[in-house]
Amino acid sequence: MSRIVKIASKNDVPRNGSICVEQENEYIAVFNVDGTFYAISDVCPHAGGPLSEGVVENGKVMCPWHGWSFHLDPEHSPEDGVYRYKVIADNDDINVEIPD
Ligand code: FES
Repeated sequence: MSRIVKIASKNDVPRNGSICVEQENEYIAVFNVDGTFYAISDVCPHAGGPLSEGVVENGKVMCPWHGWSFHLDPEHSPEDGVYRYKVIADNDDINVEIPD
């Protein structure tokens, strides 16, 4: 089971920028890559760096603390400790699927 939850408005995330939102005690990094939105856990599995503050290049975000990089797209979900949310962008809203 899963739920669809609004985590931000599209206007909250600048084009080619990112924000961090808190949702149900989880920190989620939300990225706008050329108008496509991605949402992944904000906490780097290495040592807790804020992935929302990382640089995005070639579909990956580089952690600002030690440079590990992680795919943004849930289609690429390696076992790397980063949860990738399915994003459903609807009108002005950015929604994610949250597993129960
Ligand atoms: S905390 Fe992210 S690479 Fe070290």
